[in-house]
Amino acid sequence: MDTVKTIKEVREYIKQWRRQGLSVALVPTMGYLHDGHKSLVERASKENHRVIVSIFVNPTQFGPNEDLDTYPRDLEHDKKVCESAGASLIFNPEPSEMYFDDRCTNVEVEGLTNGLCGAKRPGHFSGVCTVVSKLFNIVTPDRAYFGEKDAQQLAVIKRMVRDLSFDIEIVGCPIVREKDGLAKSSRNIYLSKEERQEALSLNRSLRRAKKRLKDGERDTNIIKKAIEEEINKETLSKIDYIEIINSEDLKPVEKIEKTVLIAIAVFIGKTRLIDNFTFEMEEK
Ligand code: PAF
Repeated sequence: MDTVKTIKEVREYIKQWRRQGLSVALVPTMGYLHDGHKSLVERASKENHRVIVSIFVNPTQFGPNEDLDTYPRDLEHDKKVCESAGASLIFNPEPSEMYFDDRCTNVEVEGLTNGLCGAKRPGHFSGVCTVVSKLFNIVTPDRAYFGEKDAQQLAVIKRMVRDLSFDIEIVGCPIVREKDGLAKSSRNIYLSKEERQEALSLNRSLRRAKKRLKDGERDTNIIKKAIEEEINKETLSKIDYIEIINSEDLKPVEKIEKTVLIAIAVFIGKTRLIDNFTFEMEEK
């Protein structure tokens, strides 16, 4: 498995593979890979002949007060994860390879990006959509794999692919959790021992919500309250948002009548974590 730093080198690999009639998958990441990423690469390598993992901490999706400078990086570890999961190539560009100093083009997905993380992190999805579009144009994959933990990101990218006619299948993959239920995230490394314990409230609150839904509760305010109560039991936690939205257009719903996404973001100390689940309603 090779690691390349330039767009030209990626394109040379792709040309060779295409000449041999091989299918190509892309797994876009910001590195510091965990089992969640590994599951994406494993699935991609089962479903495609070749898998490119991009490792790029994309500066344009971080806000001015966010963790761009401290975002964890460990390329040697990432290489091992990619190799063991069946990747064929790592694309690890420098920011200067991806962005011209005088660039003036951004990809904006409207509407779907108004709420949730879009509302809390202005400019974030513009950065994500622009870099993912560039990666799609560089790699021209048949399929691209994204985690369902970033549920809004997945919905936004699916819509962008549809609207801009990218000929790429977007594959969403299930959230991978620690044994105690905490969703795997590169940012979990920031948590102190005490915060790590508190972070369990995210999954616990969602399980509580799931139980209420299974018991027949359909009022979003009551479900949200149940989540809020569970998280507020903790002292270091601050809720950023609790949203119950239509899983297609990401618009808030009041009464749960169709499949919904229940998504939360919580600050545990300074670390912002997200989690979610989809509640499927049987069609009448
Ligand atoms: O989900 C991520 O890690 C990033 O948002 C992505 C898709 C790699 C774009 O930088």
